Amino acid sequence: MKILIAGASGGIGKYLAEQFSEKGFEVFGTYNSHPPKQNLKYKMDKVDVTKEPEIEEWINNVANCSDELSFIYCVGLNYNCITHKAETDKWLEVINTNLIGAQLSLKHILPLMRNKRYGRIILFSSVVPQIGVSGTSAYSSSKAGLWGLTKTVAIENATYGITINTVNLGYFDIGMIKDVPTDLLNKIINSIPIGKLGDPVNILKTVEYLIATDYITGSQINLNGGLY
Ligand SMILES: NC(=O)c1ccc[n+]([C@@H]2O[C@H](COP(=O)([O-])OP(=O)(O)OC[C@H]3O[C@@H](n4cnc5c(N)ncnc54)[C@H](OP(=O)(O)O)[C@@H]3O)[C@@H](O)[C@H]2O)c1
Repeated sequence: MKILIAGASGGIGKYLAEQFSEKGFEVFGTYNSHPPKQNLKYKMDKVDVTKEPEIEEWINNVANCSDELSFIYCVGLNYNCITHKAETDKWLEVINTNLIGAQLSLKHILPLMRNKRYGRIILFSSVVPQIGVSGTSAYSSSKAGLWGLTKTVAIENATYGITINTVNLGYFDIGMIKDVPTDLLNKIINSIPIGKLGDPVNILKTVEYLIATDYITGSQINLNGGLY
């Protein structure tokens, strides 16, 4: 099986790319502004997910309709600003990156999966639109949009051996959490019922499970240490 990971230069995407290539899968990843610094066991290509021709070219270069494909969308962009002061350009950039980038990726990968009558798609949403967090309207809206995309694509492709699910992450000890200031991070940790940031191995196990099963589709898996 080939595993395609969009956003494999970020914390979670890089971790999953390393783990799956260690396990013997053929992994193809993308970066946007952070090219890999060393030689990797998997191939990395530059793709800006806000540019449809770049996505189309990447998918057609690394995959074809005779491959069994899994696609993991680890791309994510945040913009912290209270809603009534938000700059429209920045708000749109978040929607374009987190939601429309996922849609454009699916637009180009689904025909290959439908032809093969097999596919596993995993998107990452967040606990943020579930609980409401001040200053996150763009991020939160983009992540809530993924739930509708997941449900729709699940129904459209249910008879084609394709499953699609969204994993709603709480706060994990990897990736974009590194940008959170220490005092806010401590408040976040105190709010998590399990009392600690998530270990990324939980993300790996969940993704492995969703790849292994053929009967979970259109679902949201909450991986959040009890934080709702
Ligand atoms: N870490 C957490 O605790 C947590 C919690 C909830 C949800 N999530 C979600 O999980 C996913 C992975 O998060 P993470 O923590 O690994 O984030 P991260 O470390 O910030 O990585 C973000 C990734 O998105 C890529 N990216 C951003 N803009 C892009 C664009 N225009 N085109 C292509 N790629 C672009 C980045 O590429 P470059 O760096 O190369 O530009 C990077 O690979 C995201 O969807 C995030 O919202 C994470």
